[in-house]
Amino acid sequence: MELKTICQSIEILAQEVGQFVRQERLKITNDDIELKGKASLVTYVDKNAEEMIVSALRKLLPEAGFITEEGTASASGEQLKWVIDPLDGTTNFIHGIFPHSVSIALIDGEEPVAGVVYEIGQDELFLAWKGGGAWLNGQAISVSKTEKHEDTLLATGFPYYNFDMLGNYLKLLEFFMIETRGMRRMGSAAVDLTYVACGRFDGFFEHALHAWDVAAGIIILKEAGGKVSDFKGGDDFLFGKEIVASNKNYFPAFFQKVNEFLG
Ligand code: IPD
Ligand code: CA
Ligand code: CA
Repeated sequence: MELKTICQSIEILAQEVGQFVRQERLKITNDDIELKGKASLVTYVDKNAEEMIVSALRKLLPEAGFITEEGTASASGEQLKWVIDPLDGTTNFIHGIFPHSVSIALIDGEEPVAGVVYEIGQDELFLAWKGGGAWLNGQAISVSKTEKHEDTLLATGFPYYNFDMLGNYLKLLEFFMIETRGMRRMGSAAVDLTYVACGRFDGFFEHALHAWDVAAGIIILKEAGGKVSDFKGGDDFLFGKEIVASNKNYFPAFFQKVNEFLG
């Protein structure tokens, strides 16, 4: 099946699941919140959303395996795998704020080749497939052209369970606070990457992420003309739990600072 056709199917699926999440947001109570780990929350909405996605994707591409946040399905050596975060931004969702999103990617080996991020609050559907460009609600998108720290707005995710690098992380934040237009902590890494892809943010970095947080955002960012690496300048950004992403003009200056403090 062609990647473009696959994208058209997962676009509809992400919107349907997003509609389910939107409806449930008004119904959840404190009794629905479970703790998976330190500051790591989950509800029946995450789990049911994941089941909806997995059952649809099994029919769409029976040969593909799965890497999913809530463990509904798993991979066993397949070349093609779906990488799914049914609700990225669960803490935002539980606290009744946006953004939060549905994130679905297809990877070939370890390379994301198609992805959809549906941001529920603003009804924004980002999608891309390898060689097909990046799109937001049907319009082509591209990264910003900024080069200098002083012209950029940046995004990150604050550490909340792994504090190994906290000291250096805070020094890096201090640098960016002083030298850039500012920092944002949106609460959905998938959305952070798509906002870099469409030029709203100029750069994003975060430590201790999982593949399902970033897989769809990576292909969308790359197809929008962005650049991505791990904190050492290598390619281990999907499973390596560290990512630095920006437009190509700004990447050298941005990466140099992230690498200096966190690499
Ligand atoms: C989280 C979000 C958040 C990031 C966390 C992720 P979840 O995903 O992407 O922005 O800072 O590291 O775990 O738990 O809401 O799916
Ligand atoms: Ca996530
Ligand atoms: Ca999640």
